[in-house]
Amino acid sequence: MKRTLGTCYYPEHWPEEIWADDARRMVEAGLTWVRIGEFSWSRLEPTPGDLQWEWLDRAIETLGAAGLRVVLGTPTATPPRWMINKHPDMLAVDAHGQPRKFGSRRHYCFSHLGYREEGRRIARLMAERYGRNPYIGAWQTDNEYGCHDTTVSYSNAARDGFRIWLAERYGDIHRLNSVWGNIFWSMEYCAFDEVDLPNLTVTEPNPAHVQDFRRYSSDMVVLFNKVQVEEIKACTSAPISHNYMGRITDFDHFAVGTDLDIATWDSYPLGFLEDRVGADAAHQRAYARQGDPDFQAFHHDLYRAVGHGRWWVMEQQPGPVNWAPYNPSPLAGMVRLWTWEAFAHGAEAVCYFRWRQAPFAQEQMHAGLLRPDRQDAPAIHEAREVATELSGAPDVQFHKAPVALIFDYDADWAWTTQPHGAGLSYFSLVFDHYKALRRAGLSVDILPPDHEDFAGYRLVLAPGIMCLRDGLRQALNDAKGHVLYGPRTGARDEGFAIPVPLPPAIKGLDVTVSRVESLRPDMPVTLTDGGAVTGYLEELEGSADVLMQTSQNLPVAMATDNQIYCGAWLDAAGLDVMVALLCDRAGVERQQMPEGVRTRRTATEEFWFNHTTQSADTPFGALPPAGVLRRVL
Ligand code: GAL
Repeated sequence: MKRTLGTCYYPEHWPEEIWADDARRMVEAGLTWVRIGEFSWSRLEPTPGDLQWEWLDRAIETLGAAGLRVVLGTPTATPPRWMINKHPDMLAVDAHGQPRKFGSRRHYCFSHLGYREEGRRIARLMAERYGRNPYIGAWQTDNEYGCHDTTVSYSNAARDGFRIWLAERYGDIHRLNSVWGNIFWSMEYCAFDEVDLPNLTVTEPNPAHVQDFRRYSSDMVVLFNKVQVEEIKACTSAPISHNYMGRITDFDHFAVGTDLDIATWDSYPLGFLEDRVGADAAHQRAYARQGDPDFQAFHHDLYRAVGHGRWWVMEQQPGPVNWAPYNPSPLAGMVRLWTWEAFAHGAEAVCYFRWRQAPFAQEQMHAGLLRPDRQDAPAIHEAREVATELSGAPDVQFHKAPVALIFDYDADWAWTTQPHGAGLSYFSLVFDHYKALRRAGLSVDILPPDHEDFAGYRLVLAPGIMCLRDGLRQALNDAKGHVLYGPRTGARDEGFAIPVPLPPAIKGLDVTVSRVESLRPDMPVTLTDGGAVTGYLEELEGSADVLMQTSQNLPVAMATDNQIYCGAWLDAAGLDVMVALLCDRAGVERQQMPEGVRTRRTATEEFWFNHTTQSADTPFGALPPAGVLRRVL
């Protein structure tokens, strides 16, 4: 498969007279793909049942005839105003019980059966009309499920759906009472119809109740997507994708991905650095025009797994965006670097958002490849440069990395449901491990928690999986490579209770977590070999070998053969020590990266990226700021 470029285009935003010229210029810039349609419902169906396809027919014809391949999106992220008249109770409801209003986007509740059927209907109508259109190369369902905090809704539809879901899961209300531990505070129910949603309670609700509601909410996203996929699949053999986001963990992306052919995601490195990386002010200042060196790569590796190997960047930041606290311009060269970085991690395509900056509505301060006056914006020159470079580059190839890191959405909800200390998030824990691996120059595969064959991986990291299911437990225990568990591995059972025997209960590893504590950020516990524990620490008992300890000689990490447990959240220096130790034990070669420099290896290529504003040393010579080095092996 060739590596390709594309862009996101909204023909409904522009006079029809300029579509052909836009298409010609896209081709001239070296672009292959153009994604359209995902917000266009009010023009496709201005009033209920009045379908207006002709403009879209002409748009697809114009783009396709110019030589572009179209990705067609279903428009369900933006239900038109009349939809609210038709289904007044379809709006999502926030945790305070307030319906979220019309006037932006994503204003629907995933549990609403009527709206789900509207999604099915419009997907079917689009697929019937365009399923065999030769210019449509791929499909996209909706856009960015979960964005703007929209996965969890406390609506009546959600309440009714949750009750049915619980009845199916537990069968008998007494079983639910027992699994949740509802005898505590006399919270027992007599019937499933008495169970309400876990918001607006006087103090914290039962964590088992919350965790099940998170699981239910995720299942509703899976279902909402699945009905659209069924309709599209019936009419076409083109691949179907969904376009995911950065650091959105409210639904199980692996479960959605099971029904799809390709995973795509939206990479906004500068917006993310300000908005969701979670870095300190000094790091934000140092990388303000380049973005965090690991955040995009982490998601590239994650979405490679969600897409079963097939993934794209559907929206690549091309200049300043509009939505972060501060929105600087990228350093010259970064758009090219971000594009190559995605290809280094296995992307099939990178599409820039958006073709032309819109001079109206919410995103008028968001750059595009063109300015509002149709002149070139700076990013288009870098896109052209990549297009030229791509002509001689090898095709996309899958290559197993030496290290695997497991990501479990259920664990993320569990950490959020009962964090025990402010700021303790599963995403951050896994991301901290990822960063340490990348600082050691390692290429990483992120894997789902139902992965059951670790053959070929020298190292497997599984931090923080609070509910460790039997299949994964066994597979990790059977792995030939070295396995790092903890902290909080197996700390809760399926019903959110502490299991006995106490965690982590790993076969062949005599370690027991006898007590846990969370720590203020200003009370780090230092380690004898460098670094410190921050935020969270477990007291470990047992006869396994001590690998790491605090300055007071308390064990922090213990091991027997290839099974290793770490009962602490280590800071960056501590994680560097841990990764070095793991690599030595597992015989994995590592090379500590200079600040802001990252490398990745595939079967045929080796890449080096300089995310800093200074030139940086690599084994192959100096890399300029925003520099990319690609070696064919
Ligand atoms: C994405 C979204 C786009 C656009 C973009 C702005 O999250 O999919 O529609 O809003 O952000 O950066």
